[in-house]
Amino acid sequence: MSNNMIRKASAFEILNHWVLALSFFVLMISGFGFLFHLEGLNSVFGSFNQMKAVHNYIGIVFTVSLLLTVFYYLPVSLKFSGDDITWFLKGGGYFSKKTETPPQDKLNAGQKLYYIFILIAGIAIAATGFIMWLRPPLADIRKWILISHFLHNISFDFMVIAMPFHVYLATLANPGTLRIMVYGTVPIEWAKKRHGKWVKRAE
Ligand code: HEM
Repeated sequence: MSNNMIRKASAFEILNHWVLALSFFVLMISGFGFLFHLEGLNSVFGSFNQMKAVHNYIGIVFTVSLLLTVFYYLPVSLKFSGDDITWFLKGGGYFSKKTETPPQDKLNAGQKLYYIFILIAGIAIAATGFIMWLRPPLADIRKWILISHFLHNISFDFMVIAMPFHVYLATLANPGTLRIMVYGTVPIEWAKKRHGKWVKRAE
């Protein structure tokens, strides 16, 4: 903690967030290419087969990056308390300026839930992706590939729907948040209002 700033994300966490986000966007764009047969995208990636190769290998990057988040987002996200429930019941204070929300930890209740959601959907999308790619020698491999296609597509839909909310909440809806993923630090006063419990512990 220095003067009036407090560190919310380490250099590693910042780097890993952008690896996660960038790999997600490449996977999403090529994923849409497969889903809707966007022929034009083939030329962006070189050819259809090259787009498939990029999708598969960037899938490895996404998986590793996602698993690394377990070390710093999972412990706080699993600590759900009554304050988190109240935060949800009050809609995170987003519906009225007058609403008082209970003090929040390093991640607020919504962020915790978002993380758990990304982790579960991310693991599902990665595991099913690797089954389709590597076709392990299982007895009913055709059945598993069919199930994997289905689960891969469902988790893709959920993630693509959730993502714009995350980007909106991390930028326009909460000014001052984006700098966490650029500089890693925020003003203490800003943090006290939004993550009171965490600042109290850190002080
Ligand atoms: C342009 C796109 C994105 C922007 C501007 C953005 C911005 C941010 C910011 C500012 C934070 C820090 C919030 C805090 O510490 O209070 C954050 C956290 C996080 N981001 Fe992103 N992000 C983007 C894309 C993504 C993508 C694509 C993923 C996942 C696939 C992702 C997953 C997460 C997770 C899991 C967290 C921690 C939990 C949370 O804050 O909700 N982000 N993001």
